[in-house]
Amino acid sequence: MLKNVFWFIIVFTEFYCMAKKIFYSIIALFAILQLFQPDRNISNENFKTELANHYQIPDSVETLLNKACYDCHSNNTDYPWFYNIQPIGWYIQNKIDKGKHKLNFSEFGNLTKKEAVDELDNIKEMIDKNTMPLHSYRWINKDADLTIEQRHVISQWTTDFSKQISNDSTATLNKDSSLQNLPQ
Ligand code: HEC
Repeated sequence: MLKNVFWFIIVFTEFYCMAKKIFYSIIALFAILQLFQPDRNISNENFKTELANHYQIPDSVETLLNKACYDCHSNNTDYPWFYNIQPIGWYIQNKIDKGKHKLNFSEFGNLTKKEAVDELDNIKEMIDKNTMPLHSYRWINKDADLTIEQRHVISQWTTDFSKQISNDSTATLNKDSSLQNLPQ
């Protein structure tokens, strides 16, 4: 009987020490991760090549793209507070980098006529299939979870705008003179 109690104490103490070590290691690892913050995609510049500066875009469309797409497809992301917690921030930044690399609305004006039309096709496909914005983003950002009507507005715009660009690129350029001095 005494022997059993003795063994129990030994095993329990061993287990307790090991669990404590594992726990502190995890805390230490988590703390170290926080030292490696990813670079942020932030710019306060208003670019001449910005979709809405370069072309004439209906306000309704610009508003929708702004709230649902620009966080990952422009030069300026509005970051959530939990971005500061690693590895969550790394995961988010990876999505932003990939998204921006494929399509950047801040540099849309740099695209050739053909590239712009191809990109509008891509956007239409993503919107019609409801694959964009990413689902994980919608869970957190309810505003970005576009309704069927809102998706229809974007989809219709891509069709109309594509036709305008194909027919006459100068017709849809934004001629607002206050935009002349903006950086590229
Ligand atoms: C949370 C980030 C995020 C948001 C918000 C987001 N996207 Fe994306 N988007 C991505 C990523 C990441 C990719 C690249 C996917 C891949 O390569 O697998 C992508 C790819 C795309 C592509 C493909 C581009 C190409 O040339 O292949 C289109 C088009 C697109 N997104 C449109 C949109 C539209 C329109 C919205 C808003 C309604 C939007 N996205 C919102 C992250 C995002």
